Amino acid sequence: MSSKFITAGVIGWPVSHSRSPIIHNHWVHQYGLAGCYGLFPVAPGNLEKALQGIRALGIAGCNITIPYKIEAMKFMDWIDPLAERIGAINTVVVQANGELHGFNTDGFGYVQSLRDANPQWRADLGPVVIVGAGGAARSIIVSMINEGARDIRIINRTMSKAQDLAEEFGNTVNAVDWADRHNVLNDAALLTNTTSQGMVNEPALDLNIRQLPKSALVSDVIYAPLETPLLTQAKKQGNTTVNGLGMLIHQARPAFHAWFGVMPDCTQELNQKIINTF
Ligand code: ATR
Repeated sequence: MSSKFITAGVIGWPVSHSRSPIIHNHWVHQYGLAGCYGLFPVAPGNLEKALQGIRALGIAGCNITIPYKIEAMKFMDWIDPLAERIGAINTVVVQANGELHGFNTDGFGYVQSLRDANPQWRADLGPVVIVGAGGAARSIIVSMINEGARDIRIINRTMSKAQDLAEEFGNTVNAVDWADRHNVLNDAALLTNTTSQGMVNEPALDLNIRQLPKSALVSDVIYAPLETPLLTQAKKQGNTTVNGLGMLIHQARPAFHAWFGVMPDCTQELNQKIINTF
């Protein structure tokens, strides 16, 4: 193994709330590597200079978070086709020749978190219902299509955004009117919330899940709180639930692999470290 000191970090604004340093620095220690992962607060207007800077500083790469996941694409020399489809990047890897390559690992993280809850899970088990039509929804739609989903239903408060996604992603994806949201769950195999509803300081998602089959997996991309009201209700009904912590940790794994050369594990110890920050 190389003894080179490897540096990576996360670019965002604001960025101080990010849990990524905890995750990556945990792995640096776990695998006995020489390196570190830091926070890079980049003020609006400075993104291009910051990305040129990581190349100039010999940094291995960085994560990109709010509000730059879309804008950062402009400054990449190459973008992974999956990220191109999602329309956003969350990971930059500096190549040996200095090129910046952009990836999106959110969909990978999401799918892995479902498999942690149910290793038998497959996207073609039945309809996938996604609440929300923002960036998180896009990464999940693309990963569900890639995984072979045949029926994806998008419920969004603003119908036009759900319709835009249905148009962009083709026949597999259909928009559902917000007023009909409670009635499209009765044959679902997966329900996922990608909205902010249920987050700490936000009201619960206004969705009645009584019609949802017990066999459906219910997931929420939110990780604070670990159990949103949606997941509490689903558990009560006997459904298996998945919170956003798994996605948060799994999305970091391919990035760590690209920068540090080791595909890291998710452990209970790391889960607990993150939970302790809430
Ligand atoms: P992200 O990139 O994290 O997905 P986003 O792009 O801001 O975040 O998307 C937020 C999603 O939460 C949207 O689908 C939004 O619905 P609208 O398109 O109607 O804005 C949804 N959302 C936010 N507040 C909501 C609320 N009070 N009720 C229902 N949906 C809400």
